[in-house]
Amino acid sequence: MFQLTANHSLRKHNTFGIECHAATFATYEVASDVQQLLQAFPGTRYLPIGMGSNLLFLAPRFEGVVLHCENRQWQLLEESDTEVLLRVGAGWNWDEFVRHTLHHGWYGLENLSYIPGETGASAVQNVGAFGVEAGERVAAVEAVDLRTGVLRRFTHEELQFAYRDSFFKHPDEARQWAIVWVTYRLDKTFTPNLSYAGVAREVERRGVSAASLTAQEMRELIIDVRRGKLPDPAEIGSAGSFFKNPIVSVEKLEEIKQSHPGIVHFPVSRDKVKLSAGWMIDRLGWRGRSMGPAGVYERQALVIVNHGGAVGTDVLNVCRAVQHDVFKAYGVQLEPEVNFIE
Ligand code: EPU
Repeated sequence: MFQLTANHSLRKHNTFGIECHAATFATYEVASDVQQLLQAFPGTRYLPIGMGSNLLFLAPRFEGVVLHCENRQWQLLEESDTEVLLRVGAGWNWDEFVRHTLHHGWYGLENLSYIPGETGASAVQNVGAFGVEAGERVAAVEAVDLRTGVLRRFTHEELQFAYRDSFFKHPDEARQWAIVWVTYRLDKTFTPNLSYAGVAREVERRGVSAASLTAQEMRELIIDVRRGKLPDPAEIGSAGSFFKNPIVSVEKLEEIKQSHPGIVHFPVSRDKVKLSAGWMIDRLGWRGRSMGPAGVYERQALVIVNHGGAVGTDVLNVCRAVQHDVFKAYGVQLEPEVNFIE
């Protein structure tokens, strides 16, 4: 059964904490709920959302149906000596799910602890942190096509995961799918991923050897590192990183190095590198700077925050000003990671 509310406030459904009302807010659990909803509201604009941790509402009202999955069931589909295949409802709070996996001794998601969001959206956004991306662990997704009502099961290959990207973000597909289930493949033995320098440093600082580190210790360490640089949405409105780290050619990097020799970058392939957008924005003096009620977070220049009472256009103004200055200084166009809803 789907549930409906009219004129529903979305302030608690976006981590920026921006006020916006949905003409209709609908919750669903299974595919047939979505299919019935499509019949009840033909020809309407739909917006499927998770926790709203990557959304920016630009208008005060969404004239359509906002859809939210409430499916929090899970099923162990397969278990071998080394792995499990876990089918999980798309409506789970992401961190609760990570905690649940560790509790059962299923590993691979510990570096993604404490990311605000839900399981369904993890497969859309391919959320990532500290050397791990959720997509690496997603084996399948079941979702309803909001244009046709057809339920489709996507394999890992069909999901086309890339940096903060998947099939569900491609221009023709974005916001056209209501996710119902995500299947994750997890390990039964814990292997710490220390590829992110800040995490390796923190392990060393705590005097723990990588060999003796437990998954629970790793989770706690990740949460501490995360809290040190990213705002808690319960306290300060934000959507985490506002921009993607741009991927440019090695030639472009060499050109930037002429005027900015210290630019932080990471290899992507033989001829491409990922530039640290946070570093670029920081060097331009934007960290801690505000424009009215929105501004750049004082501890991480890649994060735009709502200091209180900001509307979508306040955040957009900061976004545009940062993009303008970055382009002027480095000749690089920053692409928002956040999805704008008009
Ligand atoms: N830096 C600065 N100043 C800043 C911010 C960063 O100089 O204000 C420098 C840092 O010193 C570091 C480099 O930039 O050398 C990279 O910074 P950081 O390690 O904080 O990572 P990031 O690239 O800014 C990415 C993800 C985060 C994820 C962290 C850790 C993106 C868009 N962001 O941030 O993801 O938590 O790495 O893995 O890829 C998110 O997507 O919402 C998110 C928070």
